[in-house]
Amino acid sequence: MILEKYKGFVPEQYDKRILVTGGAGFIGSAVIKHLILKYPSYFIVNYDLLTYAGNLANLGNFENDPNYGFIRGDITNIALLSGVFDFFGITDVIHLAAESHVDRSINGPADFVRTNINGTFILLEVARAAWKDDYSAHRFHHVSTDEVFGSLPLRGISKFDENTKYDPHSPYSASKAASDHLVKAYHDTYGLNITISNCSNNYGPYQFPEKLIPLVINNLVNNRPIPVYGKGDNVRDWIFVGDHAAAIDVIFHKGKSGETYCVGGNHEMSNLAIVKTIINTYNKLTNSSVKPEKVIEFVEDRKGHDKRYAINTKKITDELRWRPLETFSSGIEKTVKWYLENGEWLENVTSGEYRNYYKEHYGKEIDEKRD
Ligand code: NAD
Ligand code: TYD
Repeated sequence: MILEKYKGFVPEQYDKRILVTGGAGFIGSAVIKHLILKYPSYFIVNYDLLTYAGNLANLGNFENDPNYGFIRGDITNIALLSGVFDFFGITDVIHLAAESHVDRSINGPADFVRTNINGTFILLEVARAAWKDDYSAHRFHHVSTDEVFGSLPLRGISKFDENTKYDPHSPYSASKAASDHLVKAYHDTYGLNITISNCSNNYGPYQFPEKLIPLVINNLVNNRPIPVYGKGDNVRDWIFVGDHAAAIDVIFHKGKSGETYCVGGNHEMSNLAIVKTIINTYNKLTNSSVKPEKVIEFVEDRKGHDKRYAINTKKITDELRWRPLETFSSGIEKTVKWYLENGEWLENVTSGEYRNYYKEHYGKEIDEKRD
């Protein structure tokens, strides 16, 4: 049985037992590391299906921490989730598990509806049943995206904030919008103690190389052309993943129940400018002289491509005293350096070698059947 490994677990030993869903992904693994380092009296249960985007190597040595446990499971599996809540005495949830890539959602939206909408619904139902005696003592924090707000005019100064109307355009952002509404409804209807964060584009180590920044680095390393959609003039507001993890921490602990918080890096940049910055950083770190005009390929634009995202961070700064600490120039240098030094990780996640890692680590094959 999947919980056998934790026989003898004594929930009362820990101040909180937090279920982090999607903890083997890019942001989830950063959140788990942040929590383990900062709160030694908590026990963190990483609940993750290990899809193509989930990778236990993202946790590094934290996997051996006595305050960490891992359950491979699907958030749509109500029986397993209920068992995990019961066994560990889960006190709180930080929910990150999702299908997260816009291009994949355009090619195949079904998994996005299943995981992001159905999965969030199941998780809310399990929390509602488990915590029915006192909702106020248990926090459910839902991690969402600024993409639910749609698109801002390319040339303008307006930004998204907590009062911006939802207007999603891709199956990904529509599925995240639906999940946000469900979470809010469980607060308004049943009184669940929830918070929601809507964050801008993250970058940093351990991001799967299908998203713009790691894709550009991976293509540079492998001498491949860099595809830029349309004219490359779309704008995103970039935040270093560690700053997002710190924002989730502060909202989870101090945010007001029922409230939404917008999180951003206060750093808007066009895609073309990002690509050129990465090429310059790569040239500097590897002593190369790659010319942007030789490697950039302008390709067909993404369908329904949102023009510009930008976040007004006034609420979280004023109320919770959070602000992003990493500058873009230091963050992007750290990130390119990390990918250059972790070629094996990159090779593993792109070649399917992760299966071998899993087998060595857990002594069995990844079970392709969903748990
Ligand atoms: P990711 O794709 O790197 O990781 C997602 C994780 O969820 C993976 O470990 C995967 O195995 C797991 N997962 C997927 N389906 C599952 C299921 N059915 N059951 C259990 N686990 C499942 O994503 P990320 O970039 O780390 O994003 C994490 C969260 O943050 C998502 O909810 C995303 O919408 C949100 N977000 C991401 C960004 C960004 O820029 N990446 C920005 C704002 C918000
Ligand atoms: P992405 O990293 O997929 O994040 P999101 O779609 O959630 O913002 O893309 C960031 C931007 O980069 C987006 O405007 C699309 C663009 N893009 C490219 O131009 N080329 C690419 O190969 C990818 C993956 C994205």
